Amino acid sequence: MNEEGIDFSIAKGVFYNPEMTFCRSMSSLAVGAIGGRLDVCDSFCASGIRGIRYAKENKNVKSVTFVDIEKSAIKCAEKNAKKARIRHDAIHGNISRVVFDIAADFLELDPFGTPAPYLYDAFRVFNPKKTAYLSATATDVAVLCGGKTKACMKNYHSRPLNNEFTHENGLRIMVKRMAETAAEFNMGIKPLVSFSDRHYLKAIVQVERSAELAYESMMSLGHVEYCPSCGYREAAKFPKGKCANCGKATDYAGPMWLGELHDKKFIDDMEKLNMKRSYSHKSEIEKMLGLLKGEIGMPPHYYNIHAFAKRAGIGFVPRTEDVIAALLKSGFNAKRTHFSPVSIKTGAPYGVLKQIFSEAVH
Ligand SMILES: C[S@@+](CC[C@H](N)C(=O)[O-])C[C@H]1O[C@@H](n2cnc3c(N)ncnc32)[C@H](O)[C@@H]1O
Ligand SMILES: [Zn+2]
Repeated sequence: MNEEGIDFSIAKGVFYNPEMTFCRSMSSLAVGAIGGRLDVCDSFCASGIRGIRYAKENKNVKSVTFVDIEKSAIKCAEKNAKKARIRHDAIHGNISRVVFDIAADFLELDPFGTPAPYLYDAFRVFNPKKTAYLSATATDVAVLCGGKTKACMKNYHSRPLNNEFTHENGLRIMVKRMAETAAEFNMGIKPLVSFSDRHYLKAIVQVERSAELAYESMMSLGHVEYCPSCGYREAAKFPKGKCANCGKATDYAGPMWLGELHDKKFIDDMEKLNMKRSYSHKSEIEKMLGLLKGEIGMPPHYYNIHAFAKRAGIGFVPRTEDVIAALLKSGFNAKRTHFSPVSIKTGAPYGVLKQIFSEAVH
């Protein structure tokens, strides 16, 4: 096999999904953008391709510790790491058992399904560190993004919402769970880059040891209230239960992370690195990073143009760029979002948006 110029092999029964190449490239850019000198732990390593790419593509990776519960996988990762000539260690075992023997600055959590039960392991790996980096992938998108409320309550202690901006709710619920777990270990989080793509959600956060920052992170949690009747939505510490627009009963998602999902300087650095690399997804990554940057400073939800037009009963769907232009002209901020190509983020009041939609007909 070959991924972005790196040769590796897959033993029988060892997991490898070429669909995740984009995710590995984004994550590798993030590793490079962190800078400093990093000991990386690629837990759930399978063939080891993630950790190998992080080390081969970034000069700041000192070593990689591979962990996998399957003997065939860890053997395969070790063979691939040797072939790639990277400094490494390979541990066969359950990550939750072996964490006590690992110290890393950057931990990759890439399990099948939810990362929730393994978040505790991360903070054991970070035990002696003041600053560290946690990169988690969730493929239980149906749970986080609205379809399975009970499973979401159980795994993430939050209520999801199956509405038009469900992917953002899901990502924010996952980041909340990371912040919550960090806080129990007296660490605060700062999301560096987070996104929803294909069949997974990904968040890479910086964690910093400080009781104060841990508390600050908890203060960044809240809810997004949503009116199924008129589509009004509002982010606040707690939901009020009644729609501020039509007065009908609202539903809500949360608690979730209401702070920023990305750091501007960090995304700038990822962009610079991407320009220097010849990844097969180079232009897709460039587009994604541009969209993520535009989301900074925007509300924690978005408007689907189709859903809004339907609800407003205007019998016509305005073009996304026309809605954005009209909002900007009226003095409000408006941006596209990576979550959906037919959606926008804006801080404009709901009534203004409605007005702009109805004016679009004339
Ligand atoms: C989704 S795959 C990882 C894919 C890999 N990171 C990549 O990018 O190609 C999940 C891997 O985690 C391993 N695994 C599952 N539970 C584990 C646990 N508790 N501790 C360590 N490894 C585990 C599985 O054997 C499998 O190889
Ligand atoms: Zn309403």
